[in-house]
This record gives sequence, C-alpha cells and structure tokens, in this order.
Amino acid sequence: MADDEKKRHFCEGNKCLAFIFVVVIAAIVTVAVVTFVDKEIRTVHKYDNSKLPWWKQTVVYQIYPRSFQDTDGDGIGDLNGITKRLDYIQSLGVGAIWLSPFYSSPQRDFGYDISNYTEVDRRFGTMKDFERLMNETRKRNIKVIVDFVPNHTSNESMWFYESRRYNDTYKDYYIWSPGIKRNGTNKNDPPNNWLSVFGGSAWKYDEIRREYYYHAFLESQPDLNVTNKEVQKELQNALTFWLEKGVAGFRLDALKFMFEAEDIFQDEVGLGEYEYDESQEHNLTTNMPEIYGILRSWRKLSDGFKDKHGVGERFIVAESYGLTHAIRDDYYRAGSVPFNFDLIMKLNNTCNGHCVRKILEESLAGLGPSSEFWPNFVMGNHDRSRVASRLGADMLDAMNMMLLTLPGTPTCYYGDEIGMTDASYTFEETKDPQGLHFNKTGYMNHTRDPERSPMQWNDSRNAGFSNGTPWLHVNPNYVTLNARSQSESNSPTSLQMFRELVKLRKIASFNNYNITFIDTAQPEVLAYIRFGLGQPKYVVAMNIGGDNNEVITDFSKSANSIVGRVSVMTPRLSKASGLKNKGIKLSQIGLRGGDGMVIEVLP
Ligand SMILES: *[C@@H]1O[C@H](CO)[C@@H](O)[C@H](O)[C@H]1NC(C)=O
Ligand SMILES: *[C@@H]1O[C@H](CO)[C@@H](O)[C@H](O)[C@H]1NC(C)=O
Ligand SMILES: *[C@@H]1O[C@H](CO)[C@@H](O)[C@H](O)[C@H]1NC(C)=O
Ligand SMILES: *[C@@H]1O[C@H](CO)[C@@H](O)[C@H](O)[C@H]1NC(C)=O
Ligand SMILES: *[C@@H]1O[C@H](CO)[C@@H](O)[C@H](O)[C@H]1NC(C)=O
Ligand SMILES: *[C@@H]1O[C@H](CO)[C@@H](O)[C@H](O)[C@H]1NC(C)=O
Ligand SMILES: *[C@@H]1O[C@H](CO)[C@@H](O)[C@H](O)[C@H]1NC(C)=O
Ligand SMILES: *[C@@H]1O[C@H](CO)[C@@H](O)[C@H](O)[C@H]1NC(C)=O
Ligand SMILES: *[C@@H]1O[C@H](CO)[C@@H](O)[C@H](O)[C@H]1NC(C)=O
Ligand SMILES: *[C@@H]1O[C@H](CO)[C@@H](O)[C@H](O)[C@H]1NC(C)=O
Ligand SMILES: *[C@@H]1O[C@H](CO)[C@@H](O)[C@H](O)[C@H]1NC(C)=O
Ligand SMILES: *[C@@H]1O[C@H](CO)[C@@H](O)[C@H](O)[C@H]1NC(C)=O
Repeated sequence: MADDEKKRHFCEGNKCLAFIFVVVIAAIVTVAVVTFVDKEIRTVHKYDNSKLPWWKQTVVYQIYPRSFQDTDGDGIGDLNGITKRLDYIQSLGVGAIWLSPFYSSPQRDFGYDISNYTEVDRRFGTMKDFERLMNETRKRNIKVIVDFVPNHTSNESMWFYESRRYNDTYKDYYIWSPGIKRNGTNKNDPPNNWLSVFGGSAWKYDEIRREYYYHAFLESQPDLNVTNKEVQKELQNALTFWLEKGVAGFRLDALKFMFEAEDIFQDEVGLGEYEYDESQEHNLTTNMPEIYGILRSWRKLSDGFKDKHGVGERFIVAESYGLTHAIRDDYYRAGSVPFNFDLIMKLNNTCNGHCVRKILEESLAGLGPSSEFWPNFVMGNHDRSRVASRLGADMLDAMNMMLLTLPGTPTCYYGDEIGMTDASYTFEETKDPQGLHFNKTGYMNHTRDPERSPMQWNDSRNAGFSNGTPWLHVNPNYVTLNARSQSESNSPTSLQMFRELVKLRKIASFNNYNITFIDTAQPEVLAYIRFGLGQPKYVVAMNIGGDNNEVITDFSKSANSIVGRVSVMTPRLSKASGLKNKGIKLSQIGLRGGDGMVIEVLP
C-alpha cells in the first residue's frame, strides 16, 4: 500500500507522462548533439602530422662516404657505393640521408678541408655519379642533405693560393695578421693566444705573404674571412650550386666558429698552453652574433628553391656543441635547427633512467608547445665514440628505442642501427689528424678513426665494404656483427627493431613534439607517454643502467588504463617474453637492464 501511494505520488496522470516524454526526448537530443559535437571536435582537432614539412616526418641517416661502400676497389667508399646501397637505406625506412663531405679536398681532414666547394673529389667519383645518386634517391623518395663547411677551406684552394700572394681580388678572403712584437726579438709573435681545436696556436706564419693566418683547426685549414662580402657571395654561390642539383638541405659544419672578434689583438681569458678545452667559454671566437645574419640569408636563399625539384622546405641544420638555450633559440629564430648533442655529450654509463630523464627534460625545455621550436636528437656521429661502445653493447637497443621514440627529428649514424662498435687502431695505423696531433700515449683519447671504421655489410671479405684494402681496416667483429645476418635472422635483432621503430614513429602519436614523462619509483626506469589528440596513446619504457634483475613497474595509473598491446620490444626481451603484438597488463611491466618496450595503450 505504501509503495503504491509513493508511485502515485511520484507520477500522476497524463501531465506526468508528457513530462517524462519531454525529458526522454531532451535526453536523446542532448546525447545526439554531444556525440555530434564531440565527433566534430575530434575531426577538427584530431592531430594530423601529414601537413608537417618532410624534415619533421623523417629520420636522418648520416653517411660517412669514405667508410660506407667502395665500388672501385681503392679502399675508399664512394658515391656509387651509396647508390648501390640505397635499397638497404630504403629498407630502414629513413627518408633522408646526410652525406659528410665528398668535395675536392687534399683529405688532410678527410674532406672537412675543402679545396673546391662545387667539385666532387675524384676519390668519391664524379659529378655524374652525384647526379645518378640524386636520381636514384628521388625514385625512392629519399632526400639528400649535404655537408657545408663554410668556415675554412683547404690551404690548396685556389682562393688561398691567390690570397697569400696578395692578389687584389683574394687578399682579404682569409684572416691575415702581421702579428705583434711582444718582446725584443725581431720576428713578430702571433697577434693573440687563441688555440687551435687540434691543439697549439691557431696562427701560422706564412712565408709567402709574410704574415700570420688564422686556422681554428689544422694548419692546412685556413679560416675564411666571412665578414668579407665577396667571401659571403662565394659561399652563397656554392649553396646555390647544390640547391640547383636538388639537395634537400645543408648540415653546416662548425658553425659557431664562423666569426671571431673584430679586434683580434685580444687574448681569450684563462686559456691553457696547448690543449683546446671545449667547455671553456671562447667568447671571442665562438657564437659571435654575426652568425645569425648569415644563417638568415642562407634560409632566404634556400626558401627561393622551395618549389623546385619537388623538395619543399630545405632543412638547415647547424653543428654546434655546448650551446646555451638562449643561443640555441637564436639559431632556431634564424631559420635553422641546431643539432642537439645532449645524448652524445651528457649520457654516460653511470646515468640511469631518472638521470636520462633529467637530461631529456633539460634538453626539451623551451622547445615544442611553448615556442613551436622543433626538437632533434643525435645519438652518434663521425666525431664521437659509437653509442654501443660509449654506453655498452647491452644498452644499444634501449638507446635506439629512445632515440626513435623521442619527439622531433632523430639523426642516426650509419652502423648504429646494427650496433657497430668502435674499432681499435694502433698509433701506426691511425689516419685521423686529430689523433696524429698527439703522441703514442695521447692519441687514443683524440682519434676519431674508431667510429669511422667501414660499414659491416656481411661476413664476406672486408665485411663487404671493399674488394681492395680498406683505408681503415674493418672491425674484426664483422664476422658476427653485420647487416645481412641481422636482416636475415629468424630471431629478433637490433636491425629489425630499428626498422620497426622507424615505421612506428611515422604515425601521428610519435610524429609531434608532445611528450609526458612518467614518474617511476624505480630509478633505472625511463618512461614516457607519446600521444596526439585523437590518436592512440603509447607508453615507452626502458631500463637504463639496471642489472640483470627484472624490475617491475606499474604504468596503469599514468596510462589511465589497465591493458595495452606490445608494439615493439628490444630483441632480447622479445625473444624471452614472446609478447610481441600481444596484450599485456600495464600494472606489471617487467624490464631487465637494457630492455625496452613500446606499448600501445588500449582503452
Ligand atoms: C671549382 O671547380 C669548378 C669545376 O671544376 C671550377 O669551374 C671552379 O673554377 C673551381 N673553383 C675554384 C675556386 O677553384
Ligand atoms: C638524371 O635524371 C635526369 C632526368 O630524368 C636525366 O636527364 C639525367 O640524364 C639523369 N642523370 C644521370 C647521371 O643518370
Ligand atoms: C688573381 O687571381 C685570378 C684567379 O686565379 C687570376 O685570374 C688573376 O690573374 C690574379 N691576379 C693577379 C694580379 O695575379
Ligand atoms: C719572446 O719571443 C721568443 C721568440 O719568439 C719566444 O720564444 C718567447 O717565449 C717570448 N717570450 C715572452 C716572454 O713572450
Ligand atoms: C698545406 O698545409 C700542409 C700542412 O701544414 C702542408 O704540408 C702543405 O704543404 C700545405 N700546402 C700548401 C699548398 O701550402
Ligand atoms: C676581412 O675582409 C674585409 C673586407 O671585406 C677587410 O676589411 C677586413 O680587414 C678583413 N678582415 C681580416 C681579419 O682580414
Ligand atoms: C671558422 O672561422 C672563424 C673565423 O674565420 C674562426 O674563428 C673559427 O675558428 C673557424 N672555425 C672553424 C671550425 O674553422
Ligand atoms: C669574454 O669572457 C670573459 C671571461 O668570461 C669576460 O671577462 C669578457 O668580458 C668576455 N668578453 C666579451 C667580449 O664578451
Ligand atoms: C655522467 O653523467 C652524469 C649526468 O650527466 C654526470 O653528472 C656525471 O658527472 C657523469 N660522469 C662521468 C664519469 O662523466
Ligand atoms: C705524450 O704527450 C703528453 C702530452 O700530451 C706528454 O705528457 C707525454 O710526455 C708524451 N709522451 C711521449 C712518450 O712523448
Ligand atoms: C684519456 O681520457 C681518460 C678519461 O677521460 C683519462 O682518464 C686519461 O687520463 C686520458 N689519457 C690520456 C693519455 O690523456
Ligand atoms: C602535439 O604537438 C603537435 C605539434 O607537434 C600539436 O599540433 C598538437 O596540438 C599537440 N597536442 C596534442 C594533444 O596533440
């Protein structure tokens, strides 16, 4: 009875039914509108990476041509060798290659001493070979970025030849100084105490001109006087030459050195006697503000080619170590991307997951959402010990996983995709001038030959690099460590993981600058979430610096879900767990030292 009464009280007669009807209709309409609008929101704001310029959508693969593939048997890699290996490069999924110098050069600094900016060195081939390479890369939709070394030429450049003879046209092409009398002798001393990066005074007395010339690197690499308008024109002509050949961008070598103080009779404070210390502030010789004007002019020049050769926006990337964020941002504003070397310079094998996170956060500060500056990361190059040697072979895969899942444009050094290690060379075998500048005890800490050993293609003679005698012998570990075996292996390998990650990072969730780091209780674990509005969300987790014991992490809270699907795993973990493409509980992710996992979060 009481129940009946309540019911009656609650809904009485037709009025009530009409009211319920209206409420139900309103509810339906509301749900429909919300669904529609939500869909609208989703379709309007869903993050779409396809409109990004090409250089934001790709991985850059650095090739050191001398060591990549020899086709003519002289033991030195060549342009035809690169063409021959384009199928391999395409199989990596990378969309751009950057070629270290292949220009005419006496090769005292292996091509970074250029005698003619617009000529192919005969050791690397001919201009026809370069054109063929361009044609073949175009077919495969691979962009070509070339090196540009604006700072200095070889002492065998025609410009230097004329300049030291005081030829009116060329006399001011380089940095000349009569020097200064510092004490009672009748010969002048160099004008200041500036040091060469290779050690020793940066000034060399020239007997022909009877003046000192400035060389930031080797004596055989005199610095150009870039404030000279004629020199600037020459450099623009060289850039134009390559733009017309269809190159997609330039990597500017040693850019921060491009200008020095106008008043050269100032000493830098606190310099040592001989050895150049990169960590010191060389404020009279590096990062002078004139750089940005030149950069902007090169950006403008390149933009003039936007619609030519179907390349689109050119990628201008500047080599610069030790930048403050303020200087880094000035490079961005001038239309270039300053290489970010934090993964090379700051990581070491005492740095665990939390330490790496701190480095990454510092590195990314001020980039992305707040400034729209596009990040980039570099894991290795021709000047630094290889990642598999620097951090240990057991860290290689986790490091590649990190490189390829971080925001921005990653640059990978040839051979790092298979985990090549530094080769060792005796002092007698050493070719690198930076190493030879030192003696038998000192060279090891300076030579760059170890990271320039020939590419390990397969287990045949010379690792498939050359039929002749390689300019640097191949690393003997090629018998087991080579691209072919990793490619053909039935069980997971570094190379296979690399390919999977390059493919994965093309999707919108990775191809943007957003990242959220996950707080993990375990200091070994580096983890972050990659996402894009309306796109699937991914958890990336690596055990960095941990030992062989499995560390279990719960990601269910940070991922806001309890299940995921494993997309990519480091090879050892893949073999051991068999979880690839399988569902996984986010609350219990187990990783041993060097293991890594990319997990798609399921709703
Ligand atoms: C560079 O080489 C090209 C082609 O051989 C030649 O036309 C040009 O004069 C050379 N430039 C210099 C500065 O030697
Ligand atoms: C490159 O392609 C262009 C246009 O298809 C062609 O004219 C030229 O001969 C090719 N060059 C070489 C060296 O193959
Ligand atoms: C200056 O150099 C150019 C190019 O090598 C040459 O043609 C010219 O004759 C030189 N001038 C003098 C005065 O030697
Ligand atoms: C004076 O000049 C000589 C010869 O160039 C040099 O060896 C010496 O170190 C100089 N002394 C000082 C105090 O600069
Ligand atoms: C260039 O410099 C090197 C090393 O100092 C020297 O051996 C060579 O003779 C120089 N070449 C010229 C043309 O001056
Ligand atoms: C650089 O070239 C300019 C001419 O454009 C000249 O005035 C200046 O003295 C040169 N600088 C040096 C350090 O040689
Ligand atoms: C580039 O040139 C500038 C000025 O000529 C010089 O200060 C700097 O050390 C040079 N850098 C390199 C890498 O040669
Ligand atoms: C260069 O740095 C030194 C020491 O840090 C400082 O005393 C000097 O004023 C700086 N010079 C310039 C031109 O910034
Ligand atoms: C290793 O890297 C960390 C973080 O960058 C740094 O604090 C530490 O000094 C480095 N250790 C060595 C031995 O270089
Ligand atoms: C090698 O050079 C170092 C300085 O870099 C010096 O201390 C050492 O005595 C030299 N050794 C020999 C054998 O010359
Ligand atoms: C080489 O570098 C290591 C580490 O930086 C240092 O401990 C060692 O003394 C250096 N060796 C020489 C010969 O300079
Ligand atoms: C992520 O980054 C891209 C640019 O890289 C930006 O357009 C987008 O709005 C950002 N936010 C989300 C939630 O995707």
